[in-house]
Amino acid sequence: MNSSIIENSTPEQSFLNISKIDMVFPTPTGGFTALKDVDLQIEKGEFISLIGHSGCGKSTVLNIVAGLYQATKGGILLQNKEVNEPGPERAVVFQNHSLLPWLTSYQNVELAVKQVFNKTMSKGEMKEWIEYNLKLVHMDHAMHKRPDEISGGMKQRVGIARALAMQPEVLLMDEPFGALDALTRAHMQDSLMEIQNELNNTVIMITHDVDEAVLLSDRIVMMTNGPEATIGEILDVKLERPRSRLSLAKDVEYNRLRSEVLTFLYEKQRKVENIKSTITAPASTPKKRANA
Ligand SMILES: Nc1ncnc2c1ncn2[C@@H]1O[C@H](COP(=O)(O)OP(=O)(O)O)[C@@H](O)[C@H]1O
Ligand SMILES: [Mg+2]
Repeated sequence: MNSSIIENSTPEQSFLNISKIDMVFPTPTGGFTALKDVDLQIEKGEFISLIGHSGCGKSTVLNIVAGLYQATKGGILLQNKEVNEPGPERAVVFQNHSLLPWLTSYQNVELAVKQVFNKTMSKGEMKEWIEYNLKLVHMDHAMHKRPDEISGGMKQRVGIARALAMQPEVLLMDEPFGALDALTRAHMQDSLMEIQNELNNTVIMITHDVDEAVLLSDRIVMMTNGPEATIGEILDVKLERPRSRLSLAKDVEYNRLRSEVLTFLYEKQRKVENIKSTITAPASTPKKRANA
């Protein structure tokens, strides 16, 4: 952590301050600069999406905010306090649920709840709280099933319940719905909007889904391609809440925002991948053989 960011911080600073972060990973051939000068100030209750091509450094940013990685330069301030280790006020939802396989949904959430509320809640209060959070994600019917007894979408919902049950100031989500089918994904997006509206959490969500980013966010933070990835553009999404995917589909502003993100990703930050040069068909293809 660069000590100057602490000295420069003032009480009126934003809720979550991602301050001029560089991230250099050591590799056998020398340092690899994944992030360069990533700087973002987030207000309490804001919903931020991070979008960018695969490998640009989105997860690295999230892991630094989570306290799982330490930035090489710059750092994170949450309510003016330096972040340099994981903490229950910053819950993480990973792409692959990361539930403990030998515990039921209830027990997985319980583990997190005990970690945070052991001293302040009675056993009965904890039970009520765990059940309440599983109900929020519509998982109360399968509370006592283990991860291998429920679907991928259900596991992901338990992961979200577990994160919410910690009452985190900040909810960090790394492509939380990436592995879900379209219908489950839409359902989860709607529940997430409801939950956030109710609890006013601050959320940073990584996604590669443009519609998801526009539907859920207050701001979409678009990252440039690495190495030395940084924030390319930030898009303000001022669509009224509550938002409905159906009425937005024909909304002019919604479609403008959507095309801004698409333009950023596929024109300004286009990844030039010459498929032909990397994949060459074998000399003897079935067709050639058939013709021979
Ligand atoms: N622990 C690590 N060691 C070395 N390089 C890493 C490490 N973690 C990530 N990287 C590299 O940093 C870049 C950004 O990775 P990542 O944050 O996972 O991207 P994204 O989440 O946007 O797909 C990639 O080039 C990746 O290979
Ligand atoms: Mg990633």
